[in-house]
Amino acid sequence: MNSIKITADWIRHRKNSGEKIAAMTVVDYPTAKILDEAGLPLLLVGDSLGMVVLGYEDTTKVSLDDMLHHVRAVARAKVKALVVADMPYGWNRNPQQALYCAQRLCDAGAEAVKVEGGTEIAASIEMILAKGIQVMGHIGLMPQFLGETPRYKKQGLREEEKKKIIDDALFLSKAGVFSIVLEAVEDQLAEEITKRVDVPTIGIGSGKFCDGQILVFHDLMGLFPWFRPKFVQPKLNLALLIKEAATAYKKEVQDAT
Ligand code: KIV
Repeated sequence: MNSIKITADWIRHRKNSGEKIAAMTVVDYPTAKILDEAGLPLLLVGDSLGMVVLGYEDTTKVSLDDMLHHVRAVARAKVKALVVADMPYGWNRNPQQALYCAQRLCDAGAEAVKVEGGTEIAASIEMILAKGIQVMGHIGLMPQFLGETPRYKKQGLREEEKKKIIDDALFLSKAGVFSIVLEAVEDQLAEEITKRVDVPTIGIGSGKFCDGQILVFHDLMGLFPWFRPKFVQPKLNLALLIKEAATAYKKEVQDAT
């Protein structure tokens, strides 16, 4: 990768390039700078921040203001990577509201928005795209709808479910999104979708056949030890390192004469 600013089109054109896309979530300024220096081309201000940063039980409590706060922090890092922001829960169902939300996120510094859902929110996705805002799709397991789909289960095992995921993927690709997140999609189905759509698929817990992968920063770095998805193999145990450093500091303060 050279020093050119990454755009949604750059990501789109990775399809069939043989170069896999390594994406990660980010919530703050220093981490954005570090991940950018590491060369990750896509940074997502994901609404998983509701759990890993704000202490909520799920993503449905994350407000637009919460998202704007974190998007602004990441935008201040002026990264080379494409900055994508999640549309928070509830904003996708009505096209006018969806457009308002997408515009607010872009005004705060996002360069694209990620939207959970497929054909059932077609009007919202089409409205955002029609206004020239780049959209990343997100299908399969959709954390914003965990009440409506089974908890953290592989998606697409049943025929009916499989058909819906394929229909959604084909709809999103045709509508003009620049990439599609496939979350917890059965591996062979993720492979089939990857072959059939025109834009890169970015998998999370969906096997190795996607055009790229995305992980939650806190999961990969061991910074949220109270819950870790099974498919994540942490590269670090930051929680432990922080605890050890804090203990050493405490001892240093107490021992000072
Ligand atoms: O919010 C998030 O972190 C996400 C990723 C899991 C794709 O949507």
